[in-house]
Amino acid sequence: MMPVKEKTTTENIDSNEPNLLAANGAEVRQPSSLNHEIRQLGPWFHNLHLPSGIQTAPDHAFGDFPAYKWQQIAAHLPDELTGWRALDIGCNAGFYSFELAKRGAQVLGIDCDPHYLAQARWAARQFDLEDRVEFKQTQIYDLAHSDLTFDLVLFMGVFYHLRYPLLGLDIVAQKVKRLMVFQTMTLPGEEVYATSDLALTDAANGLNNREEMHERGWPKMAFIEDTFGSDCTNWWVANHAGIEAMLRSSGLRVLGYPGHEMYLCEPDPDHPSCVATWNAGELLSATGQPSSQPNL
Ligand SMILES: C[S@@+](CC[C@H](N)C(=O)[O-])C[C@H]1O[C@@H](n2cnc3c(N)ncnc32)[C@H](O)[C@@H]1O
Repeated sequence: MMPVKEKTTTENIDSNEPNLLAANGAEVRQPSSLNHEIRQLGPWFHNLHLPSGIQTAPDHAFGDFPAYKWQQIAAHLPDELTGWRALDIGCNAGFYSFELAKRGAQVLGIDCDPHYLAQARWAARQFDLEDRVEFKQTQIYDLAHSDLTFDLVLFMGVFYHLRYPLLGLDIVAQKVKRLMVFQTMTLPGEEVYATSDLALTDAANGLNNREEMHERGWPKMAFIEDTFGSDCTNWWVANHAGIEAMLRSSGLRVLGYPGHEMYLCEPDPDHPSCVATWNAGELLSATGQPSSQPNL
């Protein structure tokens, strides 16, 4: 969940304090100049720990965010990512992108919000990682129009912001070559109701057998019509069973749980998504691509 923010997009930072030159001629940034730039780029959702030791959001309401979440994920990913192409969806100020790049990955971070992308591009310069990270203003659904695939995809903190969540997940799942880390806001409870085809389990009642869907562990998503946590961009909150069902349905297999509401997944070649097989036309049509039934 993201706090509502005032929009202050600042692509060009004007620092009002000259930097000094070290004995070797390298530029030494003054802390007050960095703090000035950080203030101009704010508000920040990611508390980046810059090489100088300065942090971008040291008083973050969530604590040292998202460093504490990265600590949960870090051990579940290879230490060495050289040769890996990674995609960070909803990259925000790029905290995760930078961590993957530090491990050697070539990273594409996408976000729909230019305010955060300005922060990410600025921070890439501070970390001297511009050759390994690229940030693009892109809607998640635009990935459907790209041929790129990725060894590693981070899909964290974005699903509940999507008005069309399963469309987003279907698009993203098709981009994953090796691993995906998925994180979203969930409903309370870890129950998973064991069921598959209601019509088959109770042939007599057939389609009228809907009571089971009220069971706690039935895959569900709660819809938010207005705001949740004062944020009008929060749309859907799924339960744990719903997340697992949607990941499976999108052709992914859950390998583990790095932390609360986090799912480490890989493509499941034994159970490909229907959008890769018999229902490809629906995804093509929903993403504005030529499908087999274009006539209206
Ligand atoms: C809650 S933040 C999560 C940031 C980061 N992934 C993390 O886990 O800390 C959600 C981010 O997703 C971006 N976002 C929301 N909807 C999006 C969309 N449809 N396409 C691309 N980015 C989106 C927002 O601008 C924001 O930066």
